[in-house]
Amino acid sequence: MNPATALVTGGASGMGLAIAARLARDGFRVVIADRNGPLARQEAERLRAQGLDVAERVADLADEAAARALVREQPPLAALINNAGIFDERAFFDVASDDYRRMYEVNLLAAATLTQEAARTMRPGAKIVNVASRACLGARNHPHYVASKAALVGYTRAAAMELAPRGILVNAVAPGLIDTPLLRNLTPQRLAAQLALQPTGRAGSVEDVANAVSFLAAPHMDFIAGQVLFLDGGKSLGGSGI
Ligand SMILES: NC(=O)c1ccc[n+]([C@@H]2O[C@H](COP(=O)([O-])OP(=O)(O)OC[C@H]3O[C@@H](n4cnc5c(N)ncnc54)[C@H](O)[C@@H]3O)[C@@H](O)[C@H]2O)c1
Repeated sequence: MNPATALVTGGASGMGLAIAARLARDGFRVVIADRNGPLARQEAERLRAQGLDVAERVADLADEAAARALVREQPPLAALINNAGIFDERAFFDVASDDYRRMYEVNLLAAATLTQEAARTMRPGAKIVNVASRACLGARNHPHYVASKAALVGYTRAAAMELAPRGILVNAVAPGLIDTPLLRNLTPQRLAAQLALQPTGRAGSVEDVANAVSFLAAPHMDFIAGQVLFLDGGKSLGGSGI
């Protein structure tokens, strides 16, 4: 029997790459889809050299036709991981409507298009996992990003209700502070201030995210739908005072 196919968007870098590697180790045939062709090829090649079943496709998923074509060229997906996302810090009064549009095109619309196209052919037991962000609860200096991730959470719940009767389970993860190149750009003071808000006192790793996605995408996971799993070391619990 052919291995089950998992499509991981934004799989050339960061969390997407860790998720792709983890799902390949879980036994999926993994397709990395990313707009960064050279990086996608390099990383897929590296994973193949480890004996993992990984292919790469180059596509800008904000292009609706390209996103639909990408899904149509695959066998029915057993798992779709909508991880591709963009982030941008900008002062509240400087955010323009085009900034919102750009953020929505990738962080919400690409995921919605891919989900709709994939769900047409998915079989019962298939999983969709959307990578939202703890920022969906609110954060400063990126209202367009916060709004796009909150919209993705809303979409996750709507899609879960539509697709659960077909045996397709849709959930989301909401990572908090995760150790990626982005984090290494923070000043030591800013990083210390962020870590002080974490009951666990550390940033998450990309493997922490991959573990959670692996659980939500697993073939035996059969009774969770429309949930948002916060991967933030307890930050979303709020402050420690009364
Ligand atoms: N890094 C964090 O701390 C953090 C926290 C919470 C949520 N997230 C979310 O996790 C996801 C992954 O973040 P990351 O830190 O690994 O980012 P990253 O920048 O390392 O990786 C994102 C990948 O998505 C790809 N991508 C972006 N737009 C695309 C498009 N239009 N078409 C195809 N590919 C595209 C990029 O080329 C890149 O390879 C994003 O959705 C992000 O919003 C990240």
